[in-house]
Amino acid sequence: MAVHVLLLLLAFMLLGACTALLKWNEVKYRRKKGLPPGTMGWPFFGETTEFLKQGPSFMKNQRARYGSLYKSHILGCPTVVSMDPELNRFILMNEAKGLVPGYPQSMLDILGKSNIAAVHGPAHRRMRGTLLALVSPAMIRDHLLPQIDEFMRSHLSNWADHHNTVDIQEKTKQMAFLSSLKQIASIESCSKAREFMDEFFKLVLGTLSLPIDFPGTNYRRGFQARKNIVSMLRQLLEERRASEETHQDMLGYLMREDENRYKMTDEEIIDQIIAVLYSGYETVSTTTMMTIKYLHDHPRVLQELRREHSAIRDAKEPEDPIDWNDFKSMQFTRAVIFETSRLATVVNGVLRKTTQDMELSGFTIPKGWRIYVYTREINYDPHLYEDPLAFNPWRWMDRSMESQNYFLLFGGGTRQCPGKELGIAEISTFLHYFVTRYRWEEVGGEKLMKFPRVEAPKGLHIRVRSY
Ligand code: HEM
Repeated sequence: MAVHVLLLLLAFMLLGACTALLKWNEVKYRRKKGLPPGTMGWPFFGETTEFLKQGPSFMKNQRARYGSLYKSHILGCPTVVSMDPELNRFILMNEAKGLVPGYPQSMLDILGKSNIAAVHGPAHRRMRGTLLALVSPAMIRDHLLPQIDEFMRSHLSNWADHHNTVDIQEKTKQMAFLSSLKQIASIESCSKAREFMDEFFKLVLGTLSLPIDFPGTNYRRGFQARKNIVSMLRQLLEERRASEETHQDMLGYLMREDENRYKMTDEEIIDQIIAVLYSGYETVSTTTMMTIKYLHDHPRVLQELRREHSAIRDAKEPEDPIDWNDFKSMQFTRAVIFETSRLATVVNGVLRKTTQDMELSGFTIPKGWRIYVYTREINYDPHLYEDPLAFNPWRWMDRSMESQNYFLLFGGGTRQCPGKELGIAEISTFLHYFVTRYRWEEVGGEKLMKFPRVEAPKGLHIRVRSY
């Protein structure tokens, strides 16, 4: 009996302590004047668990209680979540007023000081300028598309041998990384590419982890992987400088001296290369995997897509590559990619942080707070997309949809994705060889996670047969 009373007493004390801690945390933030409404959860941990567990429903519930701009404490930082489309646009357009990228510390540490996400003002304009030149329409037409075509042709060969089963998640990840590596440094040798890829995958994991620098943590491994990648790239720079050869790839372009262009330091070149590899990796691979998933589930869309690609292939010899005109003619493919990106919400939003106290929608956001520009809900707004939960690529055949203010699939404002057309070219070329060579069915009915990232925790296996 005495034990029961003691246990009950302990439970009450624990409950009391928890309530006091929660209250204390709320009161602490209440002292700051003018903050938006919302809850801050536990000291240090905030509401991260609820955010990760409940995902989009957490965001929607908080909006229902507090409105489209509310405060929270997620992923280790006091954060203001903006779900207001007008305000989101304003934030993205006004970096100069002190609304700079606010990506997690692990990401900044591992991607490097000169990485485009870490630099602001004139340094950002310079980095962005060189990047835009690297992936301009002319570069895609003359240099990148031929490389992409050659890569996809070979990456997508022999998938149907012996009624093969492949993990399309793994294949699209390899595709996104190896295709970029070829465009960047013409690296094709299997062992060298493999070495790069292993390090790169560790680097990616590190950027998504807590910055805990202990042996065995993903952060430590990611940081070590960065060091290894930097030394491989430095060696490549030295080898190229020592040889007389010129290279028609991204690295060749960045190393070329041109009076009209800003001369980058080696450190900047390396961080730029890492930025291209990193930014185009998960976005391109996940969109491609989800496209395959939606095509499998929507035979009428697949039929229309195949019709577009068969018409292109039928007008060519089997060995003829996809060229710029072919790419530009893939209107339905483009629509399928946008619809996939919308419905799967490959990017939920982008992060900013304030460099000074600032007023937004009548509230004061303190210096150093994160702002989560949460764009996911726009994708399912019935006022913008009729029957929003339906996979209907035809809605994108009206090209003006791409220039609407609410089109934020590739971000917006001063940081809008410079690699949009390159990413679309990669996915389109992959789809060209995939749908003209193969038919496929899913095996295993594996689960897909949609939040915080779109992924198939156990892979997404398909059985492939020749078409
Ligand atoms: C389907 C493919 C892609 C999607 C959905 C996508 C999406 C995005 C989004 C939403 C942003 C804005 C980030 C922000 O505002 O903080 C962004 C920025 C960026 N993207 Fe992409 N991206 C894609 C492909 C690519 C590719 C292939 C590259 C390679 C060049 C690339 C390079 C970048 C870079 C460097 C930035 C940062 C720009 C800056 O800070 O000025 N992206 N992307």
